[in-house]
Amino acid sequence: MGDPIIQSKSPIMHEAALQALGIPGAYVPLHILPENLEDAVQAIRTLGFRGVNVTIPHKVAVMAYVDLLDESAVAVGAVNTIVNNNGVLTGYNTDGIGYVRSLKAEAISDLSGTKIMVIGAGGAARGIVAALLQEKPSSILIANRSVDKAQDLAAECQSKGNVVGISMNEVAEMLDGVDVLINTTSVGMYPHMDETPIDPELLRAGMVVSDLIYNPLRTRLLLEGLERGCKIHGGLGMFVYQGAYALEYWTGQPAPTETMRQTILHCLG
Ligand code: ATR
Repeated sequence: MGDPIIQSKSPIMHEAALQALGIPGAYVPLHILPENLEDAVQAIRTLGFRGVNVTIPHKVAVMAYVDLLDESAVAVGAVNTIVNNNGVLTGYNTDGIGYVRSLKAEAISDLSGTKIMVIGAGGAARGIVAALLQEKPSSILIANRSVDKAQDLAAECQSKGNVVGISMNEVAEMLDGVDVLINTTSVGMYPHMDETPIDPELLRAGMVVSDLIYNPLRTRLLLEGLERGCKIHGGLGMFVYQGAYALEYWTGQPAPTETMRQTILHCLG
């Protein structure tokens, strides 16, 4: 459910996954205007849907219309997945945990004790920081253009780990010892592909450089990292694994993540 929804690659990815699992089912795009969201959520019960994904602009508003909220949704303050158990709707957020699962599968298998820097303090950063804290890193630095947003998010997370908000001017001095650098901003996204959220000269060999952007698949930040001996991790995995978690909640079966990835890659051309 989203507005707009025509651009979503989720239907094609989930249809391929259902087919690979041999589950007779369908995943369809539903164009839902904000004023119809409450009725649309009620319709999940009426029509007996097993579940839905919720996307922009409904992720926050939909929280008011489900029966239960999983702690993943509470931590992030947004829902992207609803599961219907005999008319009882539970809201989850699989974005952050999807990102972390992809980071661990593709770049760094153990995040415990690591020093992580997150660039950006918006909705995407919120979900990712909450999920990263479950992995027991030694510290998370959140750097943001508007420093007060970084500090607010850090303060909210303080009880769950060592999280500090910093300004973009402090990035250079604080990068020392950082194991994983994550861009959650839109800087570098198509069509502004020559931009980077930080000075690429700051990237050091051995560091994991991760970008949530998947268009392009390799942002300039990742390409600069690759040139300097960093291990790079692009945003496609987050998209695949947020969907994988949702599919697993709905079906109770392990998601065919490779099929899902290949389907998206094919569709991105
Ligand atoms: P999302 O849900 O994708 O995180 P968001 O909540 O609007 O979207 O947050 C966007 C994040 O990218 C913010 O951290 C924003 O910084 P500000 O809080 O200072 O606005 C950051 N961002 C977006 N465009 C940026 C740019 N050109 N340079 C630096 N940071 C940028």
